[in-house]
Amino acid sequence: MGADISMYRPEFLSRRFMPRISALGFRDLNEYLAFAGRNDNERRAARRRLLVPTTEFFRNRDVFEAFFGILKKPPFSERKKLTILSAPCSTGEEAASLAISCFQNSIDARIVALDRSLPSLRLAASGKYSKKALSKLDKNEIKRYFKEDGPHRTLEDGILKNVFPLCCDLGSELPLKTVDAVFMRNFFIYLTDDAQKAVIGKVKKVLADCGLLVLGKVERLRMDPAEWKTVDLESRIYMFRRGGR
Ligand SMILES: C[S@@+](CC[C@H](N)C(=O)[O-])C[C@H]1O[C@@H](n2cnc3c(N)ncnc32)[C@H](O)[C@@H]1O
Repeated sequence: MGADISMYRPEFLSRRFMPRISALGFRDLNEYLAFAGRNDNERRAARRRLLVPTTEFFRNRDVFEAFFGILKKPPFSERKKLTILSAPCSTGEEAASLAISCFQNSIDARIVALDRSLPSLRLAASGKYSKKALSKLDKNEIKRYFKEDGPHRTLEDGILKNVFPLCCDLGSELPLKTVDAVFMRNFFIYLTDDAQKAVIGKVKKVLADCGLLVLGKVERLRMDPAEWKTVDLESRIYMFRRGGR
């Protein structure tokens, strides 16, 4: 699958793969992966098991409200154009939600939507969603920000133009210069402690001084208070202090 599975927690791998491994009668994950490597359908299924592409529009709406409350104040309100990273973005619902919120709050921003899954990114780039995927939006939001497209709805061009899909493995360096904020939710739970530290290290390299990091509510990371100021504990929003202060 081209993925380094050593970054994922063994309990997570076991939970995701053991039922399939047992059903097919393999002894362990290595035997199963060797088989999946020779079989296109199984490889696709294995990739989905590893990558968990679940996401939704405005997941934890209160977090979006808290985040945009912060963006409307200095230093962010003084910046010309913001760059916000949604990583991993899966099929793009989080990135689209950020783009919609920026529009609603008159904030000029580009949203970089990063994931290692190309099929997920293709969906994010198309902005085309099923009615089921839109179930977390209210009718007015759907009417205002989506166009009818057969059985689907497509994000309005004015919103989609601010979403920039980027294929990247979070085990590698982030191919970005500076970002003002990073949404990194529902990802660290899958990673080993070492991999969590390594990914945070990569985020620190690209996050601007006083930049924001938004973690998922389920994440169990302990943020070093010398480097990260807790801005909103409930919403898991942290401000990066380069060099520690
Ligand atoms: C549960 S989704 C989270 C989506 C979104 N952040 C949210 O909270 O709704 C997990 C995503 O992580 C991506 N992913 C898993 N491992 C990755 C890696 N090593 N590099 C980049 N993306 C990865 C998967 O492709 C999947 O889209």
